[in-house]
Amino acid sequence: MSIVEEAVEVLRAGGLVGMPTETVYGLAGDACNDDAVRRIFAVKGRPAGHPLIVHLAGAEAITDWAASVPPAAQVLAAACWPGPLTVLVAAADRVSRLVTGGRDTVGLRVPAHPVALELLERFGGGVAAPSANRFGHVSPTTAQHVLADLGTDVDLVLDGGPCPVGVESTIVDCTTPVPQILRPGGIPNEHISALLGGDLHQARGPSRAPGMLASHYAPRATVILAESAGDAERLLVAHPGACLLDGTADLPAYAQRLYTMLRDADASGASTVIAVMPPPAGLGHAIRDRLTKAAAGRTC
Ligand code: TXA
Ligand code: MG
Repeated sequence: MSIVEEAVEVLRAGGLVGMPTETVYGLAGDACNDDAVRRIFAVKGRPAGHPLIVHLAGAEAITDWAASVPPAAQVLAAACWPGPLTVLVAAADRVSRLVTGGRDTVGLRVPAHPVALELLERFGGGVAAPSANRFGHVSPTTAQHVLADLGTDVDLVLDGGPCPVGVESTIVDCTTPVPQILRPGGIPNEHISALLGGDLHQARGPSRAPGMLASHYAPRATVILAESAGDAERLLVAHPGACLLDGTADLPAYAQRLYTMLRDADASGASTVIAVMPPPAGLGHAIRDRLTKAAAGRTC
């Protein structure tokens, strides 16, 4: 039996699998098995009101999960899947409200990672998968990160190598009259906006997606944000021994290494990280978002 076939058996038995995706590793369980879904929440230490994204093998499965598929979701799915995009749509009645955190909407995504796609195709159903880290901690981008964070709480970890994108999917709420970006991610906001003919709003109101909490993705070290390399130099003088993060010359590489760099800073024992913010364009939106949340510190 191949390791992916073994992982399918684990999912069928209600177990949890560390699943590589192009963004970050997910903690995967059968989205139709309420016990598996409860275990995902328990292992992560995640509040029940924080919904899980359902991962699918292909866009054709969207109608199994959505009560209706608005035109914006159709356009985005056709253009971006498989890829780092999650669309929120009205949930079909059969979707467990444990998965949706009690809401009537569900987040759906088709990941672009060969191991994830093989797992999803062989499994055949929807797989609920949040990032495979404890709640509020830095997301995992290697199989080793998953094991370091979750240990034996996960039944099997599929090693698909380092995640190529490195930051989570862009979440677009397609249930509002004008679609909204709830979380900037691997697909730049400008690309989403262009696909929707500019018909797009930034999220409004308090915490439309619970992942928009001010503090999230936080290492142990204190993260101080610098708006330029010059700013960072001044901050380094004030904080001798601080660890410097600056990938602004190459944003895809900055995104890909971001969480590893935050984890490495913690492993080195650094008490302070000075991180240079990229301009708010392209992948810069997602990197700025994650660094801002890392700078808000750990709340758990
Ligand atoms: O790239 C990704 O999206 C990764 C990989 C594993 O696919 N997954 C991921 O899942 O980042 P998670 O659970 O760590 O973050 C998903 C975010 C959470 O903030 C959750 O609250 C929000 O999406 N979300 C999911 N379904 C939602 C819904 N129906 N309404 C509002 N927010 C939702
Ligand atoms: Mg997460």
